Formats: sequence, structure tokens, C-alpha cells
Amino acid sequence: MSQATRKRGNNEPVDTSSTIDFFINGTPCTAYKGESVIQAARRAGVDIPHFCWHHDLSVPGNCRICMVEVEQESGDPWFDIGCNMPVTAGMRVLTESEKVKKLRRETMQFITLNHPVDCGICNKSGECLLQDYHYEHNGMASLSRDAKTHATKFYPLSDRIMLDNERCIMCTRCVRFTHEVSESHALAAVYRGDHALIRPAEDANFNTDAYSDNVIDICPVGALLSRENLDHARVWYTKPTASVCPGCSRGCTVNVWSRRPEWALKALDPYLNSRIERVTPLENPAVNGPWICNKGRDLAKIFERPRADAAMIGGQPASLAEATAKAAALLAGAHRVVALVSSWASNEELTAFRDTIGAALGGRLTGYAKADHVPQPGEVVEDGLLIKADKNPNMTAALALYPALPADVAGALAGADVVLVWGEGFDAAQLPSGARVIRLDSYAHADLARADVFLPISIMTERSGHYTNCEGTVSPFTAVFQPQPTVAHAATLFAQLAPTAAGVGA
Ligand code: SF4
Ligand code: SF4
Ligand code: FES
Repeated sequence: MSQATRKRGNNEPVDTSSTIDFFINGTPCTAYKGESVIQAARRAGVDIPHFCWHHDLSVPGNCRICMVEVEQESGDPWFDIGCNMPVTAGMRVLTESEKVKKLRRETMQFITLNHPVDCGICNKSGECLLQDYHYEHNGMASLSRDAKTHATKFYPLSDRIMLDNERCIMCTRCVRFTHEVSESHALAAVYRGDHALIRPAEDANFNTDAYSDNVIDICPVGALLSRENLDHARVWYTKPTASVCPGCSRGCTVNVWSRRPEWALKALDPYLNSRIERVTPLENPAVNGPWICNKGRDLAKIFERPRADAAMIGGQPASLAEATAKAAALLAGAHRVVALVSSWASNEELTAFRDTIGAALGGRLTGYAKADHVPQPGEVVEDGLLIKADKNPNMTAALALYPALPADVAGALAGADVVLVWGEGFDAAQLPSGARVIRLDSYAHADLARADVFLPISIMTERSGHYTNCEGTVSPFTAVFQPQPTVAHAATLFAQLAPTAAGVGA
């Protein structure tokens, strides 16, 4: 990630080579020099409530919920916000004293002065800091006798994001994100006091911020909501599955959310039980930190395209077993096989290909790593934060086994009597005339019926494995859904094709 100069979670530089001893609630702890109390406490496993503080943004110190008590050797203790207080040697911090609890209760009363506390109908309910802290640190009805100040509900902040102004507590996390992380400078706070509002900046366009939806996650209340996912499902009806975004070679780690089986809908469209409800970042300091781009949020658009889930021989429907036998026979009788290997395949599948079909065919096989996807019109091709120009998640691993498919495709395929095309991104018009074609793919496409054999394979949300990103970091992904019974896992197919290929040969 870029932005090496940005101070994260602290307005002071932190020196991790130098430590300071201090106490939290009487327990000895160690802080790095320059660390704030909230940072050091977090590393020690002590959670200090916070709204405006975020570990990857600068520190405004505006919500005051992180107030802690500091004991003095003599004289009265003092109180200050833990997010902007550097740890000093021997400091004795109390995070749960009666005075701290009273201050938190009073701060919660103040923060909810104009907040509607409408958790029952709020899309953030179940994963909202304000809701959690209200129960944990306040739990009382509003003590104010004044009517709450009303503001616009459902203000369209962008084509993707809805803002409920009444729920906003003006923590400014969203504003700081657009200034410090995405650098679109697209959001600002206008007016003051009760009437302060978050609004798009006049000279910027939030729609063009490729990372805009991160503000939905970091908003500590239900003020910023995804228009795409609005009212889809309550969070407790869904579950996250650890995965990797295949949208580019950065390989951001993500959570893919889907409906819990025990909460399956019985009377509605079965698709609702097997769709991707949403995608959120799975924080990973080695790859993407706490962020992903909007393309990663839209994985349903990549995965939920019309599928090709029935095998074919010569464009006619066939069973998977028949098509597998036919493909094996073509490989066995071939003199020169060219395989165009998928850069969306997992490390395990690539290795399985090499160790089965590759080993069986030996010198009769020439393999090339193929780009299954290329940048699309209107898409951000590359930037200095996360997005990479290679729109394939596992080109690194594919290239470790096979060279890249050269620009002279005709030259690379010349003399092949069998071409095996694995994955998307190859135009059948480039195939040499007379060559027999075996295709392994997942999505419907007119080219598939033109292949001699088509074998339908699972997509990454239907299998588990690992991807190796552009920097060599390996991340696991886990199956979210079951594939159709007519669809095979590629690695299983390879194992079935290889013995025959080895036994016959040219
Ligand atoms: S919309 Fe959310 S993130 Fe932005 S200032 Fe308001 S509460 Fe904070
Ligand atoms: S940067 Fe690339 S890998 Fe990360 S979320 Fe965006 S498309 Fe996916
Ligand atoms: S979290 Fe410390 S002032 Fe907001």
C-alpha cells in the first residue's frame, strides 16, 4: 500500500524499537514509544470504546467516548481521551473505574441526543458500535426533554451509498477516509453543531471513488448504507466465509457473506439462499489492510453470471462421464497438446494439472499461462493503493509453472492437434484449423458448443484453495456454496484424464 507518510491510528510517530512500561487496570503492560493509550491497550487485549478513532486513520479526538482515568502518585487523578494520549513511563491507566463508567454514560447520552436509536429498523443493527456501546455503557433512555433535531433520511450520497443524516454522529471517519486513504477528497462536513451534515464535496465526485464503499464498513453507526444491499437480509441471518477477491492480482482477502442454512427461505426464490449477500474486507496487513475496492464488493456480478453446467460432446449434451472419457481419448491420441492454463485456478489446481496431465503427457504437452480476464472499459486499471492491472488472481502461480501465452498466439498453437482451453478469456477464432478442442469452463458462452468436448467446472466460491498474489503472498479461500452435481472440480477431472493420456501416448 502507498501512503507511507500517513500516520495511522496515531497523530504521533510510533517507534517500535523502543518500549515503555506502564499499567492498565493495575496490570503491567508494554507500549511502543509514541503509542497512544488506546493502541497499547488494544495490543494488550483491553478494548477501550471508540467511535471516531480508527486504527488506520488519523486521530480527530471528537467523540470523547474513549475517556480513561490516569492515577497520580499524589493528588487527584486526571481524565483524558485514550486515543490521543501518548503512553508515558510508569503511567497507571484505569479503563473501567466508576468515574470512567460515569463519563461514558454521560457521553453516550450526549452522542444519542439527536440520534433516533432506531436499531429495530436499522440495516446496521447487529454489527453497530453505537448499538453495542449503548447496551454496554449506557443502557438508559434519553434523559433529554428536548425534541430531537431531525435531518434528511435516505440522502443519496452517491450511486452506491445512502446516508441517513439522523443516525450520523459526526465522527468524520468517512471524511478522513476520502482524504487519507482513497484520496478522492469527495466528502466533507457542512454546517455546525446540531445541523452539521456529511455531504459530497462540491469539487469532487464520490461516484468516481473506486474505494468509496469502505466508508460503509467504518461508519460506526447505521448512517452509511449500501444501496445495493439495502434490506437484503439482517446480518444475523447471514454468515461470513473467508475468501480472496479474484478481481485483480492484489488478491485482497475478503469475507463472502451468504445466508445461513438454518435461516434458509422456504417459500421464496431458492436463489436467495445461494446468492452472495455482500462482500466485506477481511483485514490483512500483508495484503490489503482493512480495505478493498468497489469491484471486490461486486463479486456477485462476476460470479452470478449465467453458468454452463452441462457437459457437451460436439455441441450436444452429454453426461460428465461420457465427456470426460472423450476428452481423455483425445489427449491419449494426441501428438502435440497445447494447454492454455487458467490464471483463475488455485495453487492446488495448477499443481494438480502439472502432476497429472502434465506428467502423463510429458514432452507432448506445451503449457502457457493465459490471462482469463483483462481490464474492462471504465474500470480502474491500476492505482497506487490496491488495484493492479493484471485482472487475474493467480497469474503468479500460473507463471511459476508455465510461460505466459505469447502475443503471437497462432505461432504458440501451431502444430497442435489438441488444444485444451482451461478457463475464460480465449477467443475460439484464434484456434488453429484442424485441431481438436477440449474446453473447461464455468460460464455460458457460444464458443463452448464449438469445442469437441466441453467439461463444466466449479467456480472459486464452490471450492477451497489458495491464491498467490502479485507480491507472492499466499492466501486461502473457502467454499461458500455447493456446485451442481453436473459440474466437476478441475483437479478431480485432471486426475481422471491423466492415466489414459499416459497409457496410450503417441
Ligand atoms: S456518516 Fe458515519 S462515518 Fe461519516 S461522520 Fe457520520 S457517523 Fe461518522
Ligand atoms: S484491489 Fe483487486 S483484489 Fe482487491 S478488492 Fe479490488 S479487485 Fe479485488
Ligand atoms: S475515540 Fe477517542 S475521542 Fe473518539
